[in-house]
Amino acid sequence: MKRGFVVVLLSSLTLLGAVPTFAADGAALYRTYCASCHQEDGQGIPGTYPFIDGPIGRLSTLPEGREFLVAAVLFGLKGELVQRGVTYDGEMPGFAAAMRDEEVAALLNWLKTQWKNANFAAEAPDYTPEEIARVRALLLKPEQVMEKLQVVEEILHAKGPGGPGQGNCPDHAPPAGRGPGR
Ligand code: HEC
Repeated sequence: MKRGFVVVLLSSLTLLGAVPTFAADGAALYRTYCASCHQEDGQGIPGTYPFIDGPIGRLSTLPEGREFLVAAVLFGLKGELVQRGVTYDGEMPGFAAAMRDEEVAALLNWLKTQWKNANFAAEAPDYTPEEIARVRALLLKPEQVMEKLQVVEEILHAKGPGGPGQGNCPDHAPPAGRGPGR
């Protein structure tokens, strides 16, 4: 009797999970998958978890930045990263298995309207499930995702008015000094 009830309950929960009319809730997804490291306010923990208050908005304005962000959420990130002079050499897990395309889109659409990320909202179109699916098909390693960030930084720094070291991306260190011979 009891066992039968549990089976029925579990199968109805599974059914509920499969019904697409439940819109993905970006704020809830952030609390579930990201806030433990990047914190509720997106400020991270300096030296351990980078802040994502600002970078997500800015990166969302560029095709290359969007591809990096989606790839980081799906495949994770590994390698050296410098933010405002603080070096991170950690590893972020990927969430490709945990989140559907609609959920990743909802999460990034919520994030790009939060905190200082919202300053870039006018230039950052919404993420769509199709955009997520296209990046998902790339099947990248976390190290390859980091290479994408380096490409975006070079674009931003080259475009910026502040000259080397400032450019258009004050959140990140310039590419100079990162790679061999640069
Ligand atoms: C277990 C801890 C952890 C979790 C959970 C986590 N991250 Fe990260 N995240 C990191 C670390 C560590 C780095 C830096 C990686 C490195 O040093 O290579 C990072 C880097 C990033 C960056 C790059 C920041 C920049 O300035 O370029 C973004 C964006 C990001 N995370 C977003 C997210 C999002 C969105 C989620 C939730 C889906 C998430 N992270 C979940 C640990 C985490």
